[in-house]
Amino acid sequence: MSHPDHEISSNESNNPHFEEIVARGLASPSRRMILRGGVGLAGLAMLPGCATLGSAPASALGFPSLDKSLLDDVVLPPGYRYTVLHATGDSLDPKVPAYSNAGAETDDWSRRVGDHHDALDIFFIDERGRYTDKDTGRAVLVVNHESSADAHFMHPAGQTSNGVSGKKFTQFGDWDLGVRPELEVLKEINHHGVSVVEIERSGQGWRMKAESPLNRRVTAQTPARIAGPRAHINDIWSQMVTRWEPAGSMARGTLNNCGHGKTPWGTYLACEENWAFYFQMGSGSAPVSGREAAARRRYGLPVAAPAAAQTRGNSQGWHTVSATDDRFARWNLAAVGANAERDFRNEANTFGYNVEIDPLNASSNPVKRVAMGRMAHEGAVCSLPKAGQPLAFYMGCDSRNEYIYKFVSAAVWDPKDIGGGTVAGDKYLNEGKLFAARFDADGRGQWIELDIKDTRIANYSAFKFANQGEVYVHTRHAADAVGATKMDRPEWAAINPKNGEIYVTLTNNSAANRTPSRVDAANPRAYMDVDGKRGAGNPNGHIIRFREDGDQATATGFRWDIFLFGAEEDAGDANLSGLTARNSFSSPDGLWFSPTTGICWIQTDDGAMTDETHCMMLAALPGQVGDGGKVTVKNRMVINGTEQTGMQETFVGATLGEARLRRFLIGPKGSEITGVTEAPGGRALFVNIQHPGEDSKTALSPDSQWPGNKGYGRPGRPRSATIVITRTDGGVIGT
Ligand code: FEO
Ligand code: CA
Ligand code: CA
Ligand code: CA
Repeated sequence: MSHPDHEISSNESNNPHFEEIVARGLASPSRRMILRGGVGLAGLAMLPGCATLGSAPASALGFPSLDKSLLDDVVLPPGYRYTVLHATGDSLDPKVPAYSNAGAETDDWSRRVGDHHDALDIFFIDERGRYTDKDTGRAVLVVNHESSADAHFMHPAGQTSNGVSGKKFTQFGDWDLGVRPELEVLKEINHHGVSVVEIERSGQGWRMKAESPLNRRVTAQTPARIAGPRAHINDIWSQMVTRWEPAGSMARGTLNNCGHGKTPWGTYLACEENWAFYFQMGSGSAPVSGREAAARRRYGLPVAAPAAAQTRGNSQGWHTVSATDDRFARWNLAAVGANAERDFRNEANTFGYNVEIDPLNASSNPVKRVAMGRMAHEGAVCSLPKAGQPLAFYMGCDSRNEYIYKFVSAAVWDPKDIGGGTVAGDKYLNEGKLFAARFDADGRGQWIELDIKDTRIANYSAFKFANQGEVYVHTRHAADAVGATKMDRPEWAAINPKNGEIYVTLTNNSAANRTPSRVDAANPRAYMDVDGKRGAGNPNGHIIRFREDGDQATATGFRWDIFLFGAEEDAGDANLSGLTARNSFSSPDGLWFSPTTGICWIQTDDGAMTDETHCMMLAALPGQVGDGGKVTVKNRMVINGTEQTGMQETFVGATLGEARLRRFLIGPKGSEITGVTEAPGGRALFVNIQHPGEDSKTALSPDSQWPGNKGYGRPGRPRSATIVITRTDGGVIGT
């Protein structure tokens, strides 16, 4: 989603800022050492037993940095080209007609490519039809379809409510609760989820195989297994009881899949991000208890029916189609039955997870991995796997003031599990420890386990936990209880294959959360958009990185610095990374390292700088944690006509300059750039272009026509798409 306003903060906990932590003596100044002179930087060489960097990692970027662009096209450096692999609405089945691009479809979209392409990954297939990480020229491409708000392009004249069409409902705009048409809602339910599509390489490049039996859609209706730790599974299932599944062991569908993870055994993790906005409460509910209200509010869920028909609401009205047909009634959280087995009051407890999908087994059930916590999941990236050692998965919770988490498997990595599908997932992702991150002012950080045996969780007053199963389902409350650090909206994480360091994008934050008196060392900026009045707080975001103590997945401590600060080049004191007109960027979101070149690819989902340039993808050549130094940030904001200033110390990485940070791609109007991977060897890059034309007022007057304007499919309305980027000389991308 491109607008900073889309993520609503629901963290009202009183977790302290760093000054308070230091003042209370909780952060030890004696740990200050590490960031200064390279102490502890030994062991940067390749880790044994890990995915390793290709034989010739890039030492320089081999393309000129792009100027800003406002063109309605994907812009690349000279010598590069792109083709569209698939776009929203493309048929995945020879029996389903080609996409009209005019909203004319009468099928329910369950056999079409979904909307809002987000994360993606590629899974190669060997000659026996099994997963391999070698390039065989045959693969499945898995794409998340975040979807969210602007479904109007898939209907003839926009969304319809109470018989009136032409509306553009947004999750946060004015709308009414009138009845929505069934076909429209089915199309909207099914354009969410994940697409699994076979692709193959020919002389003309990569293409989709529309006839492949591997082609699959996981939608917001696909049955999924609810899995978790054996000792707590009954306490988990009891929270998932619904009219559809009174035992609570199964749920339906996945929503708002944003970032992702690829497991070392070859499965895909689709992360459920802003799923709360699909639920509403109809009238006639029994009162919601105070405890349930606390549980719901912490995730932005409704606790009462909207007061009037014309109101601001949180859903697209899917529940209005029918109170008896479970496909629609399930989106209504009202307690209208005699008990939880008679309605869908618990339905929202079945969303907010990492959902494991076996891309090469089209008949397998997706599995919701509850032990990894429930949040607005944005990415779940695995540490460099080492045989005989546990695996760590790093996860952001994407809302303002939310936390960074990690899950550490109880099982140790065994490469024999490669190709093991969700059975291997049961081994690594059900039993383990869940942690939230605290970033301290001295450049150190701590992982705090979320365990009900911790008295801060057991005795937490804002939400009374009954058992560990509730800690997994109400993770945000547990992280509040232990004092995790509120971050500037954690988005993707990525692992540097060279040294195992973890990078996390913090896309932005608002003036409601960051002012010169409300900053901390890890979220140190509070300033105003320099020229466009497009936000204040931390409108351009930053990228934090950290290194686990001893390079261990199981570490409980780490040290951190800030790799890059997004900024406009003319942003003065806020431009702490020395960005220029050629590499300025705002609101980093997607993030991934090429294992071939070591290039860190950074993708933006911005609303603060889009008056000057559309969203983009940049290439960076990083060093390591501690290669910069300590700086003092000068903050300044005008709040209600009064100037506030302040200083904040933090730790930054070495300045990259135009030599090591360049713009590589700029997207069409209204798009965000998200999702990136490569074919092994790095000669083809797969990238997603999400929601071009997002700000169009109506479906009939789109303000982007991409990719139809470049010859892909029927012209007219904009479509999200996966593109494949290659060099005209066949070389490795970015070098
Ligand atoms: Fe869906 Fe966090 O972007
Ligand atoms: Ca601006
Ligand atoms: Ca500017
Ligand atoms: Ca994102």
